[in-house]
Amino acid sequence: MPVPATYRSYTITNGSMSRPGMAKSITLAIGSGNHAITYVHRTPQGRLLELPVSWYAKLNGYAMSPGYEQPDHLDFRREISDSCLFCHSAGKQPAPIDCQRCHGPAQAHAASPNKGNILNPARQTPQRQLEICLQCHLETASQGIVDSMRKPGRDVFSYRPGEPLADYKNYFASPNPERFEINHAGFRLLQSRCYLESKGTMTCTTCHDPHSARVKTGSCRTCHKQPHTTEDCTPCHMPKRTPADAIHTTMTDHKILRRPASDGQALYTGPVVDFYTKADPEALALANNQQGDPVLYRRYLQRDPNNQPVLVALGKALLRQNQPAEALRILERAGQLDPQDTNAQTYLAVSEAVQGNTQKALAILKKAVADNPDHVLAHINLGITYQALGDVQSALAAYTEAIRLQPDSAEAKQRRDALLTRR
Ligand code: HEC
Ligand code: HEC
Ligand code: HEC
Ligand code: HEC
Ligand code: HEC
Ligand code: HEC
Repeated sequence: MPVPATYRSYTITNGSMSRPGMAKSITLAIGSGNHAITYVHRTPQGRLLELPVSWYAKLNGYAMSPGYEQPDHLDFRREISDSCLFCHSAGKQPAPIDCQRCHGPAQAHAASPNKGNILNPARQTPQRQLEICLQCHLETASQGIVDSMRKPGRDVFSYRPGEPLADYKNYFASPNPERFEINHAGFRLLQSRCYLESKGTMTCTTCHDPHSARVKTGSCRTCHKQPHTTEDCTPCHMPKRTPADAIHTTMTDHKILRRPASDGQALYTGPVVDFYTKADPEALALANNQQGDPVLYRRYLQRDPNNQPVLVALGKALLRQNQPAEALRILERAGQLDPQDTNAQTYLAVSEAVQGNTQKALAILKKAVADNPDHVLAHINLGITYQALGDVQSALAAYTEAIRLQPDSAEAKQRRDALLTRR
């Protein structure tokens, strides 16, 4: 991974970065350096957290990482999940994207190289070729809506090049997409007349060399023969714009238009429709379940009973509807499916606590903060549980730790202050 020239002039010394009250070492870097490099910290428990400061080519310097620009940012707690790694790494273990992500499993080919045991994208249909890139480059929205959902039983890393993307994932989008985001190359291209009216022949490699990622010269001319005064078509038809979710970068708008788009940057949070793929009614209803209706979660779980995030969402919805016994049953199942999910553990503890099982709640939360010491909500709930048990000292310590992790946590501050004034 290239290291920017300014690396040494910044206060990153010996691989660790300091900030008042906080210091986290850098475990790995995400990004090619052409636009940005974001640093990732591996906690002693093996979790990956995105650090709040990134290097930006446009600034030739450092600024807040994407997702950290808002005042209520997640500080050192933006966890890098498997779904981030699916697009940013070769596999579950952080490593640069390798040949296999586009050419398929290569063990057999490496053992005895021949054309028959490796996937050559050039021999796939244009749609399958396009989808090799779309597996990582199609994201309709980075926040605000459920932008995609994997099909029942599909693990994050189960997509294989050459497979229809629709077998792996469904995509959803605003009915009138306007916002321009950092990972919008695929999303915007699919909305362009060039793509829509070229009868499925246009792929990313119509313009990009897949290995260098560079744009081939004259690629517009393969389809457009009209005389124009210039050969560089991009300043007018594919201008660079500032993405709403990564304001320190500029990206090329792949929605090729006669005149540059001037659409808004507002976050869309309303109902979504199918995009590129067609989802079953249950899946679409789930994507639109903004009210957290347990009925819709249950209907979906009939088809995909081990969907851990949906189980957690259902557990949370049941807690909100004051059905802690049922929530407990659901959250226990979610906990078995993913023991690392601290949110699920936290809600599980709440369902125990509200049923009067305070000691059980305490045990779950103690384990949760040991597994994930950066989880603010777990610390706050631990404090509440200690308070319920009359252990004011431990409650104060838990709230104080939550505030140390997230200095602007109004919830933790309120609870700590209430405790202090009561004493
Ligand atoms: C669907 C695939 C996908 C997912 C999921 C995804 N990213 Fe990205 N991300 C990308 C792509 C592709 C880019 C580069 C966009 C471009 O250059 O057009 C990017 C850009 C970024 C950048 C800007 C720096 C850079 O590399 O240019 C950061 C930081 C980042 N992603 C972090 C994350 C984190 C953290 C997560 C998980 C919460 C995540 N991403 C999830 C595909 C993805
Ligand atoms: C496994 C996920 C993945 C796949 C598959 C993938 N990309 Fe990317 N691509 C990324 C990410 C992530 C970035 C952002 C830069 C980085 O983090 O290295 C990126 C960056 C790029 C860039 C910008 C290069 C730069 O340095 O700024 C281009 C162009 C690109 N990809 C085109 C393609 C094309 C064309 C395909 C299909 C042939 C493809 N990508 C397949 C994940 C992927
Ligand atoms: C981002 C996706 C991507 C990655 C990563 C990738 N390739 Fe390719 N590769 C392609 C595509 C797409 C083609 C078909 C090019 C075309 O359309 O002619 C291709 C074609 C090839 C070919 C056929 C010869 C040619 O140039 O047409 C070879 C050999 C090859 N790749 C080797 C590799 C090796 C080795 C690696 C790892 C170092 C690798 N590729 C990584 C996408 C990728
Ligand atoms: C695979 C073929 C193909 C390629 C490559 C291609 N286009 Fe197009 N483009 C089309 C088709 C088909 C249409 C719709 C019919 C028409 O206007 O000719 C279109 C439409 C357009 C339009 C009118 C858009 C609108 O909304 O009215 C512009 C402008 C345009 N293309 C510019 C470009 C530029 C610039 C490039 C290169 C960056 C490019 N195209 C590459 C096929 C292509
Ligand atoms: C019609 C031609 C064309 C097609 C098709 C095309 N691109 Fe691009 N792409 C460009 C141009 C032009 C640039 C700007 C290159 C530069 O500034 O050096 C670019 C830049 C990029 C970048 C770099 C970041 C940015 O936004 O500037 C990424 C990532 C990218 N393209 C991904 C893709 C993916 C993925 C596809 C397929 C879904 C695709 N492109 C299809 C022409 C195209
Ligand atoms: C200086 C800006 C500029 C550049 C550079 C430019 N165009 Fe255009 N292009 C325009 C404008 C303006 C229009 C007309 C828009 C309208 O009709 O409202 C247009 C229209 C088009 C159309 C639609 C034509 C039609 O009859 O429907 C296509 C296709 C197109 N350009 C392709 C290209 C290609 C390919 C290149 C590069 C070889 C290119 N343009 C370079 C500004 C530019």
